Amino acid sequence: MTEATGERRVWDWPLRLWHWLFAAAVLGAWITGEWGGFDWRQWHLRFGQAALGLLIFRLVWGFVGPRHARFASFLTGPKTLLAYIKTLPRRDAPETPGHNPLGAIAVVVILSILAVQSASGLFISDDILYEGPWFVAVSEDTADLASTIHHRLAWPVGIVIALHLLAIAFYRVYKRQRLTRAMITGRKPAERVPESASIKSSRTALALILIIAVAALAWWLLVVAPPEPAVGEVWY
Ligand code: HEM
Repeated sequence: MTEATGERRVWDWPLRLWHWLFAAAVLGAWITGEWGGFDWRQWHLRFGQAALGLLIFRLVWGFVGPRHARFASFLTGPKTLLAYIKTLPRRDAPETPGHNPLGAIAVVVILSILAVQSASGLFISDDILYEGPWFVAVSEDTADLASTIHHRLAWPVGIVIALHLLAIAFYRVYKRQRLTRAMITGRKPAERVPESASIKSSRTALALILIIAVAALAWWLLVVAPPEPAVGEVWY
């Protein structure tokens, strides 16, 4: 706990940085994809590929990161979920130090839907100038399927993000829980989080090694390994 502020650390800095970069990448990809038109397609590809790299980082961090970043620490069974849902209307129900059981489901849904969305983008083309780095490696049928998935998922992605923001607003207004502040500072008030639930470190050395490894893997996956594009077509 920080004595001066009476707060306890729950979110590590790599997870917080990851969250805001991921939000920027997804919003950027969504806006440029939905409204950017042809002029912004190049940026759509960049945002989408950034989201893919960030997802790879989050997947690994979910196994090796500090306590509240780990999937095993927040994924619960239906019994715990149901018990939590029953406490939802209670304003005085205790705050969960990390993700609550309902939020945990939201995490899995958001990560899964965006993994499918960004992975499908690798295999599609706009039939004019831009194509995903792996488009030429797959059959026309596979590219068509990837394209259908990519286009059909666009609105569900928007809806999931809107629900995410509504949930945060509900906790702020109804439950008086300042979750966004915690996702920025990493800390929650000490009177709501027991000492035993605070994290001791952000595992900085491990995070830095992982960031370098994921950046190298993403570079290989998106730039080095893909087959050459057809003449006259461009990817970024
Ligand atoms: C495109 C936009 C966004 C996406 C895709 C997104 C995605 C996510 C994901 C995946 C998590 C889980 C973090 C984890 O991996 O453990 C999360 C948590 C969180 N997000 Fe977002 N987010 C977005 C925008 C925002 C915005 C704009 C806010 C604030 C206004 C926000 C506030 C939070 C908070 C407070 C949590 C932690 C919730 C908790 O305490 O359980 N997010 N977000």
